[in-house]
Amino acid sequence: MIHQNRRKELLSQIDNNAVIVISTNPEQFRNGDVTFPFRPHSDFFYLTGFQEPQAVAVISRNTYTMFLRDKDPDREIWDGERLGLADAPETLKLEKAFDINFLEDHLSQLITTDSVVYFDEKPCDFDRKLSNLLSSYTIKSLQDPLHEMRLIKDEFEVSTMQKAANISMVAHVLAMQHVSPNMFEYELQSVFDAHFVKNNAAHAYTPIVAGGKNACILHYIENNKLLKDGDLVLIDAGCEFDHYASDITRTFPVNGRFSTAQKQIYQIVLDAQLAAIDSIKPGASVHKPHEIASNIIQQGLESLGLLAPSDPLSTFYMHGTGHWLGMDVHDVGKYQHNQQHRKFEAGMVITVEPGIYIRKNDKINPIYHDIGIRIEDDVLVTSTGNTVLTEQLAKTIDEIETLMNED
Ligand code: GLY
Ligand code: MN
Ligand code: MN
Repeated sequence: MIHQNRRKELLSQIDNNAVIVISTNPEQFRNGDVTFPFRPHSDFFYLTGFQEPQAVAVISRNTYTMFLRDKDPDREIWDGERLGLADAPETLKLEKAFDINFLEDHLSQLITTDSVVYFDEKPCDFDRKLSNLLSSYTIKSLQDPLHEMRLIKDEFEVSTMQKAANISMVAHVLAMQHVSPNMFEYELQSVFDAHFVKNNAAHAYTPIVAGGKNACILHYIENNKLLKDGDLVLIDAGCEFDHYASDITRTFPVNGRFSTAQKQIYQIVLDAQLAAIDSIKPGASVHKPHEIASNIIQQGLESLGLLAPSDPLSTFYMHGTGHWLGMDVHDVGKYQHNQQHRKFEAGMVITVEPGIYIRKNDKINPIYHDIGIRIEDDVLVTSTGNTVLTEQLAKTIDEIETLMNED
């Protein structure tokens, strides 16, 4: 029903003679004949609820049709059960199901010549083929209306995102309790791997488990170095549960106690993050959290003598303060309308993730060398302000030290 309502809502926003043609993701090979676990394309799943590869949906006011793989008892022994053509109409509420192998024969029957076809080509061979089949029609992009819909989460989506956040928060707590000096970063990552799998979830993105100076590499994913006594470890890890992502970063001391210098930097990032979160409410500019976080970090670094007023903040803080979160970790939806920052609306979910990254540098007091800190939470815009979906996870210096030193 949920997918049916979404299709109806989407169709009500586009041309009367619109026909939506949308394919799912292709299967991806990892190496040789080994594939990555299949994950449907978010747009396709959002509208259909169908999880198998090799499928194309055709959606209009008059028809809802899908091309999909038919049953194949021999292949199903190897790759698992398929829904198949006979059961697809009832299960997916389709008017008709066609074999994906006969796409070329039947697709044009479903689209009258005066139709406007809404289709976005993904960069894959299958979509290039599909694009050729559609070349004689007027084509429009579906992304604008569809992604605006995905940007505003309904109750079901919010509750699923809360479940994903809950699983990830527990994993971060377990990691804080598990860490000790001379452990490898991958051993700490295994806490997340195990907890996610145990909860029928998967990593929503490749996790970052970065000890000491590795935390200053923004996309560090090797996770294969030793965690040293006296260093911090930055963990950016979040699970996907039922197709919805969470995205959390915590930074904590490997030995359970922050040094004075680490505390100073941590507190600046925390102050920036809390103030940025505070600015999130309907009607506020989506740029506000970044503006506020940047100002606080700039002032904090100046007060420690690490930055002169004329120095660029990007020396130590070189990324944005957040992004939309949803079915994709960097979720869809525009940040601007007519080149102006748009305003927050209830139902949007955004991350808030300021950081400070101080690489070794002759001009900097060595007590601050190789400190990389980011704090990231997931924030739902509500009608009156916001709710932090990841609120329950330890974040202040006291909370983290207490948690890490409990018996
Ligand atoms: N984990 C990806 C990000 O924070 O953007
Ligand atoms: Mn993020
Ligand atoms: Mn993250």
